[in-house]
Parts: sequence; structure tokens; C-alpha cells
Amino acid sequence: MSVVSSREPTFASEAGAARPHATVARRGEAGADGPSPDAPPLVEVEGLTVHFPAGRAGFWGRQRLTVHAVEDVSFAIRPGETLGLVGESGSGKTTAGRAILRRLPVTRGCIRFRGADITEVDGEPLRILREHMQLVFQDPYASLNPRMRVLDIVAEPLIVHGRARNRDEAADIVHDLLERVGLPADAAQRYPHAFSGGQRQRVGIARALALNPEFIVADEPVSALDVSVRAQVVNLLQDLQRESGLSYLFIAHDLAVVRHISHRIAIMYAGRLVELAGRDAIYDDPRHPYTEALLSAIPVPDPAVQRQRRRIVHTGEPPDPLHPPPGCRFQARCPLADAQCREAVPPFEQRAPGHWVACWRR
Ligand SMILES: Nc1ncnc2c1ncn2[C@@H]1O[C@H](COP(=O)(O)OP(=O)(O)O)[C@@H](O)[C@H]1O
Ligand SMILES: [Mg+2]
Repeated sequence: MSVVSSREPTFASEAGAARPHATVARRGEAGADGPSPDAPPLVEVEGLTVHFPAGRAGFWGRQRLTVHAVEDVSFAIRPGETLGLVGESGSGKTTAGRAILRRLPVTRGCIRFRGADITEVDGEPLRILREHMQLVFQDPYASLNPRMRVLDIVAEPLIVHGRARNRDEAADIVHDLLERVGLPADAAQRYPHAFSGGQRQRVGIARALALNPEFIVADEPVSALDVSVRAQVVNLLQDLQRESGLSYLFIAHDLAVVRHISHRIAIMYAGRLVELAGRDAIYDDPRHPYTEALLSAIPVPDPAVQRQRRRIVHTGEPPDPLHPPPGCRFQARCPLADAQCREAVPPFEQRAPGHWVACWRR
């Protein structure tokens, strides 16, 4: 299949194994049902940078202001794989996810889908590409049109992309989709307000699945939900992946949520990746001080163990995205920072097979 007919495919092997987007992590991978380590990547991101213009400042507005939202981010996702993308609010996760889906302009860098460069794709090829890459939104309360019935919400992409010839055909597909996401058949005739948060997110997932995509960016899909229903929605996403080999970029703001679903995890701080490794390596052998702080914030079920644990709290604020500091962006909050950290950006380096870290001190 040619997703992007206007371009010749380019393949990751050109860049060699010394780059994280081309690397296949074997260590600490999820179990036997995980993605094949030899499969070529489905999605590759290389040096992704997204800046937003933010007006002008200074005398007569001579200084242009720029929000440095995402800076030089590289990773790859294989077919059937879930990459967790974790970082605190404002770290650039949503911006990265939307840029990869070509819903935001890319300042620098390259995005490839099935080996084809899609960074500049436009017009009809972009419309076709959109069928293969979908978004599940963070807030199921805000993302579903309250004036549309579930049938019309889920059928909309089918109609827009010409997958259903008429309403009856669309209704049949919608009923199948609702069943797949665990909603009763009569859900189709109801409006979003009739559902709980978890059920609304199932509607959002059904809509994302309508065109049978291969890749889904799930942007904090359970953050707005009650803790009691989060696991159900995560399990649903996992079941759908087992059924149809979907790949996910699963965004979250803490490490507790992504553990169950991710094969590998990338940690983002103030627009840059600071660590990327197999799931178990992140939890058992974290290298970056920021990853350690995120891990220390996860509650442990055993109260005795929980009392013994030390929560690492870094004082200070994340850097101002309008004026990121030179050197490491974590320097102001890092207990290990020295002069080198304040002057030079630490390179994102492979410290163990598949384990990438950007830190001068670790
Ligand atoms: N459209 C935009 N224009 C200007 N700045 C933006 C825009 N979208 C996001 N930002 C800024 O980019 C940074 C990253 O935001 P975002 O990607 O939403 O982070 P996250 O999803 O990790 O919370 C934040 O500083 C945010 O204010
Ligand atoms: Mg976000």
C-alpha cells in the first residue's frame, strides 16, 4: 500500500543504529505478545522540533518571542508496539503527538510512516494518511459534540472518508465498533451526556477506530477519568492492540498509568527527551534524575513499603518555554547539576542496549 504516493520511501537503516529512532530495544521488553523486535518501524520521528510564535517583546516589539515546545525529539514505534510518552504538564507531549499526526506545523525534523517521509505531505495524500493515524483525546467530556448522537459521532469519519455509502451502511459499521469497545448497541441512539466518563472515552475510541487505523496517539486517554475505570479503558486499548496489531503513542503525565500498557517508555522534560528504554529498564534501572523523581511519586500498594520510601521532590519550576536555559533543561532542579550541565546540552546517548539517556552526570 502506498500511503504517500508523492514521495519515495526512505528507510531508517540509512541513519544507522547509532540513532534512537533506528534502534530496536530488546532489553526489558514486554512479554511474548509484544511486537517483533525485527519488524521495521511503523512510525519514526527524527529530530522533531516544534516552535510556536508568541508575539513580540522589547523596544518597539523588535524581539520575536518563540515557545520552544518540542526540541530535537527522536524515537520509533514498531507495529503492535506501545510507546509510553511521559512528562509533567507543559513538557510538550501533546504538541509532539499532534505534530506526528500532522495536525501541527513542524519547525524542524522528520516524521516517517512506514518508511515514507510524511513531514511535508499535503492535500489528498495527507487526507489518506489521516485514515491510518488517529487521535484519542484527553478529555472525553470536551471532545464529543454534545448535540450529536453517538451514531453520528462515530459515523462521521466513515462518511467523510467515503467508507460508508449511506446511513444504513454506516450504522452497521458503528454497531460493530460499539460492540468492539464494550458499549451496548442502544448506545448509538443516545447523546454523550447520557454516558459516564469511561463510556464516553469508549465512544472516542470507537470513533478513532472507525477507519481501521494502524497508529493511534492516545493523549492522556484516562487522565480525566475516575481511578476506578482507568484500568478498564487501558485494558480495552490493550485488547484492541492484540486483536489488530495497532501501535500506540500513549501519553501520560505520570509513570503509574503507562506501566501496564507500554512496551517501551520515553521520558520528556521541557520539550526534550531525557530517557528512553524498555518498560522494565525504566522502572528497575532508571538513569536520569528526572525519571527517578517521577518514579518516586508513584504510590506503592503496600503501606509499610510506602512509609519507607522517600519521595524525591525537586524544588523550583520547569524552565520558561519562551527562554529555555542553555545546557540541560533540567539543570535548575537537578541535584547533580554542575557547570557542564549549565553550559552544554547533554547528548541523547545509548548507555545499554536500547537504553537512551541525555545526562552529563549519569
Ligand atoms: N498553540 C500554541 N501556541 C503557543 N504555545 C503553545 C501552543 N500549544 C502549546 N503551547 C505551549 O507549548 C508547551 C507544551 O505544551 P503541551 O504540548 O500542551 O504540553 P503537555 O501536553 O506536555 O502538557 C507549553 O508551554 C504550552 O503552553
Ligand atoms: Mg497535553
